[in-house]
Amino acid sequence: MIAQSSVKVAAAERPPGYPVELELKLDGLAVRPVVPQDAGRLAGEFAAADAETLRMRFFVPAPHLTSHDFERLTTVDYLRRLAITAWDDDQPVAIARYEPAGETTAEVAFVVKPAYRNRGIGRRLIEILARSAANAGYEELSALYLAENTAAAAALAAAGFTRHAADGSIVEVRRDLRPPRP
Ligand SMILES: CC(C)(COP(=O)(O)OP(=O)(O)OC[C@H]1O[C@@H](n2cnc3c(N)ncnc32)[C@H](O)[C@@H]1OP(=O)(O)O)[C@@H](O)C(=O)NCCC(=O)NCCS
Repeated sequence: MIAQSSVKVAAAERPPGYPVELELKLDGLAVRPVVPQDAGRLAGEFAAADAETLRMRFFVPAPHLTSHDFERLTTVDYLRRLAITAWDDDQPVAIARYEPAGETTAEVAFVVKPAYRNRGIGRRLIEILARSAANAGYEELSALYLAENTAAAAALAAAGFTRHAADGSIVEVRRDLRPPRP
């Protein structure tokens, strides 16, 4: 049985390396890093999500994730791998993450619940991830999305990503994290 989580993570339940400074307020929402106790909740959100949201996030019509996948997605080291969640009271409404995609590149992915879209939540979660990734030593962020995904294209462009490559139906965008040269 996987423990159910909520927006509050008691100090005694924080995993090693949990970045307390990423417990933030975003408009009326509470943002915090993911914790392993979120696995069951994430599985529930995945099961309840609409098919189009899942296809846009995972690029296949009916993605199948196992309990092991949800454990992996919620167990991070907060440096090379990081995920942050946004909550409206006790309801999770968004999750954004990065994973290593090379020595100096991290790949981001994000989902915002439909009722919360188009208010800058996705863009600002990516901004938080970008700061953390730079602090962790990454030099670049990448992101992949389906070519038809105009929302992801717009949100990532607003977050400073530019087109890097396109392979069939998948577009790759990137954002440099290094400070500009003087
Ligand atoms: C992609 C996604 C995360 C964007 O989240 P969001 O919180 O709605 O995005 P934001 O509100 O931060 O949008 C940022 C910018 O993109 C624009 N934008 C967002 N959705 C848009 C849409 N459908 N059409 C046009 N522009 C859009 C916003 O207007 C905003 O522009 P601004 O900063 O100039 O005002 C969300 O649509 C989603 O969860 N989609 C399903 C999963 C997915 O596609 N993930 C991406 C692949 S990993």
